[in-house]
Amino acid sequence: MKRLRLAILISGRGSNMEQLLKACQDDAYPAQPVVVISNRADASGLSTARGFNVRAVAIPHKNYESRESFENEIDRVLCQTGVDIIALAGFMRVLTPGFVSRWAGRMINIHPSLLPKYPGLDTHRRAIEAGDKEAGCSVHWVTEGVDEGDVIAQSRVPVKAGDTAGSLSERVLLEEHALYPKALAKACELVRKKPSS
Ligand code: GAR
Repeated sequence: MKRLRLAILISGRGSNMEQLLKACQDDAYPAQPVVVISNRADASGLSTARGFNVRAVAIPHKNYESRESFENEIDRVLCQTGVDIIALAGFMRVLTPGFVSRWAGRMINIHPSLLPKYPGLDTHRRAIEAGDKEAGCSVHWVTEGVDEGDVIAQSRVPVKAGDTAGSLSERVLLEEHALYPKALAKACELVRKKPSS
């Protein structure tokens, strides 16, 4: 079966991206990476991607006058590369409704909370401050509302006594690494089943 052409968007170290690239090394995995894009030229994930022989491109948002012109450049690279599905992996820019609608049903994100709890930033601190007994991560479809799209898969971890945002984020990140490749495979299946637009 033809593998879907995958783009991964990052902003930093790209440890989730790395797990996706590892999964894609198996020819039976339903996606193959064709490009990694970062909005920051200094993102260490860019060199990690090149280490996997994947094209890695910096499109620094600061070089563009508007969100739209920045996203148009991303869109140009995605279309030129024939991308079928996008995985956001620690991509820390909010996307405009225009971009989101162009990729509706073909773009997923990983978020470090049990959505719908704690969309946005500082998820681990908020979970600890709320006295939650468990935390976790979610992979979801990207829609206009930030972190609001339907959840594809989630993993849970306990919040332990004495946890800090740092210790909890480490525990959750390990779960993210296990979850994202499985959730992307599931998303690929769903994309395949949809009639092409
Ligand atoms: C991950 O924890 C990811 O869930 C989070 O950023 C981190 C990126 O780490 N994403 C968000 O908070 C998006 N709202 P990574 O670059 O090592 O994958």
